Amino acid sequence: MNEHKWLWVLCCAVFLTIGTAPAHAGQAPIDCIACHEALGGSLAKPISDWHGSIHFHNSITCTGCHGGNGNVAVGNVMQLTGPQFLAIKSSAMSKADGFIGKPSGRELFAMCAKCHASTVGGYQGSIMGKAYLAKKGGPSCLVCHHAHRNVIPSVPKVCSQCHKDTSGFTQIDPMNVNEDTVAKLSKIRIQLVSQRTQGARPALVPRFKGNMSSYQVGLLAFGAIIFLFLLAYGVYVLFERGDEK
Ligand code: HEC
Ligand code: HEC
Ligand code: HEC
Ligand code: HEC
Ligand code: HEC
Repeated sequence: MNEHKWLWVLCCAVFLTIGTAPAHAGQAPIDCIACHEALGGSLAKPISDWHGSIHFHNSITCTGCHGGNGNVAVGNVMQLTGPQFLAIKSSAMSKADGFIGKPSGRELFAMCAKCHASTVGGYQGSIMGKAYLAKKGGPSCLVCHHAHRNVIPSVPKVCSQCHKDTSGFTQIDPMNVNEDTVAKLSKIRIQLVSQRTQGARPALVPRFKGNMSSYQVGLLAFGAIIFLFLLAYGVYVLFERGDEK
């Protein structure tokens, strides 16, 4: 029985170490997580989304984006009285410490620009970035990257939410769509169409690229000779066997 008890203690220790390790991924213990995890529901969901994300792996915690004060001792949230809870909450999510709740528009751009300045700058000046800021249906960063489970989206799947024709989209930079991109895209599309019509031609005779090097031509001829030789040898062996019978 005593041995079992130690086993339990060991298990608990391992579990606690694993369980609390992510909270220390950042600079200091993050009390945002302690309170939000206890609150559950949509207030805790950002934590599980963020776990394992690129920001998580680069030690970018809640305060990296939301600001505020992550070093407020929360203790056991369930044992706090109402006023204690509110006091801790407002000193953590404090405007004085630059807390930002749920950003949108320019505030969202500013949040991401703290670390991705040039990327955001490019997007802000792009056709879609402008359409987002002007509330004309352009996608926010979150449509493509999510708020907490940040990913590089799969193109053109993510684009098809808003664009019917996504041909050529894999060949442009979606973060910086401008007049030049639109011109480039129409060239790409013309090429794609002509490739498609060419591909539809019946390929009875193998078509070789016009710009084959003499080395490639030589290699091909050599391959053909070897092939013919093997074929002739096969026929020869077949006839030889026929003679033996
Ligand atoms: C003592 C508990 C507590 C702590 C600590 C705490 N929060 Fe909150 N947080 C809450 C509660 C409760 C809400 C929902 C009610 C509200 O928005 O006031 C909330 C809401 C939020 C929201 C949504 C705001 C909105 O506009 O919808 C964000 C974002 C947030 N917290 C981030 C943080 C961050 C970042 C920290 C750490 C710096 C933090 N919280 C620390 C309790 C806490
Ligand atoms: C990469 C930046 C980033 C990080 C890191 C981040 N958040 Fe957020 N968070 C956002 C953005 C952007 C939104 C707004 C989402 C939206 O509008 O749907 C948001 C929204 C929220 C909300 C409101 C959710 C809702 O549905 O109302 C809460 C709560 C929150 N974050 C808590 C946290 C906590 C806790 C952490 C740390 C585990 C954290 N966030 C880390 C960017 C971030
Ligand atoms: C406190 C700094 C910080 C903030 C704020 C921040 N990020 Fe990041 N972000 C990073 C770091 C560090 C990386 C990983 C290194 C890299 O790829 O640059 C990263 C990576 C990313 C990546 C993945 C890039 C890749 O190559 O996989 C995306 C997407 C991203 N961030 C989106 C956002 C969005 C959207 C926001 C705003 C809601 C934001 N980030 C806010 C620091 C930050
Ligand atoms: C229409 C979809 C879309 C929108 C909107 C979008 N992105 Fe991206 N983003 C992408 C794609 C796709 C890539 C990968 C590009 C590549 O591989 O060259 C990317 C790459 C990135 C990267 C990594 C490469 C880099 O330039 O650092 C970061 C960080 C990033 N985006 C942040 C943001 C932020 C912040 C916003 C909002 C200001 C935003 N993105 C808006 C689709 C989008
Ligand atoms: C949330 C909706 C939305 C999503 C998602 C979206 N776009 Fe757009 N896109 C727009 C809007 C709105 C415009 C501006 C239309 C205008 O002003 O003519 C636009 C314009 C464009 C343009 C220039 C004009 C055109 O229609 O050819 C290109 C190119 C473009 N988007 C590519 C992309 C790519 C690539 C993706 C995916 C990585 C993407 N978009 C995802 C809404 C979206």
